[in-house]
Amino acid sequence: MRTIKIGRSEIEASVVGMGAWAIGGDSQWGTSDDAESIRAIHRARDLGITLIDTAPAYGLGHSEEVVGKALAGRRGDYVLSTKCGLRWDVKEGSLKMERDGVRILINTRPERITEEIEISLKRLATDYIDIYIVHWPELPDFPTPIADTMGALTRLKERGKIRAIGASNLSDAQFLEYARAGQLDLIQEKYSLLDRGAGDRLFGPCARHGVTFQAYSPLERGILSGRIKDPSQVQMGTARAQVKWFQPENLAKIAALAGQWAPLCEKYGCTMAQLVIGWTAAQGSGGNVNVLCGARKPRQVEENAKGGDILLDAADIAAMRKDAEAIA
Ligand SMILES: NC(=O)c1ccc[n+]([C@@H]2O[C@H](COP(=O)([O-])OP(=O)(O)OC[C@H]3O[C@@H](n4cnc5c(N)ncnc54)[C@H](OP(=O)(O)O)[C@@H]3O)[C@@H](O)[C@H]2O)c1
Repeated sequence: MRTIKIGRSEIEASVVGMGAWAIGGDSQWGTSDDAESIRAIHRARDLGITLIDTAPAYGLGHSEEVVGKALAGRRGDYVLSTKCGLRWDVKEGSLKMERDGVRILINTRPERITEEIEISLKRLATDYIDIYIVHWPELPDFPTPIADTMGALTRLKERGKIRAIGASNLSDAQFLEYARAGQLDLIQEKYSLLDRGAGDRLFGPCARHGVTFQAYSPLERGILSGRIKDPSQVQMGTARAQVKWFQPENLAKIAALAGQWAPLCEKYGCTMAQLVIGWTAAQGSGGNVNVLCGARKPRQVEENAKGGDILLDAADIAAMRKDAEAIA
């Protein structure tokens, strides 16, 4: 598995990461089997996937707890990222969402972050986080200056609680504010062949500021594996229900892409998911894109890990983009 340096930090991580959102197993993804999730996390490491990403909000603490159990006794083998700023245990903040009857608020005030990291460290059963990511930017009704949030994160880094700072779901202006306020090493953004907007906006600024672009939902929640012919094949949950490609009228478009790319899969000796992961890793500039694939089953990490080894010719990369642009 190829590795990439995370921003200007000392961290070297696998080019393909493993996302633990579905491992949280709430109504967003449907029930997860914790023992299987732990096996998947271990299998990922066997195959060279060192980076694992979770967040307090994934299953309201459950994903962090499962990741903590999986990493027990092997913490040093992984690059662990988790997030801050989405709270269901405080009264102040802007409403981000209501899930399973629980109100989740955005709050990135310095004192809240200093408090929140201790809760995550406990759930993760560790004493440091490699990459600590602000999950969502503040909303206007409860604003915190980005410089203040960045100040709190920088102090955590100085105290050895975290090794690198990340932010997620940013506008162009927010990216620049973070980059000016301290050492931003990674941004985590939704990016796939079928949803290229964040890359078009932020690949340039990432290259200029030495920031790693981490692409989340690169498989569009599994549909870009080309294997889901019918939504009844998977647990839909609210996470998948939000993705338009799962709607019946769009499934045929994905099936058509799978047909168009079958010769490429043959050429590279890979599956469609691996082809898509290889394409995603080839974006950006100078190898600064990390591909964060969600998974909760060993066979998924086995497939996704191999995607990190696929090196596509420039002409094939361009042709795939053109095919994707024809439908999205
Ligand atoms: N910062 C943010 O706001 C944010 C938002 C979303 C995601 N993320 C992070 O990014 C990670 C990845 O994003 P994502 O989970 O939304 O989407 P994704 O990586 O596109 O899809 C993940 C889901 O697709 C299925 N899958 C995985 N590998 C597969 C394969 N090879 N073949 C078929 N199906 C496969 C699994 O679902 P089943 O287990 O149901 O089969 C898996 O949970 C998350 O886990 C999370 O860590 C961050």
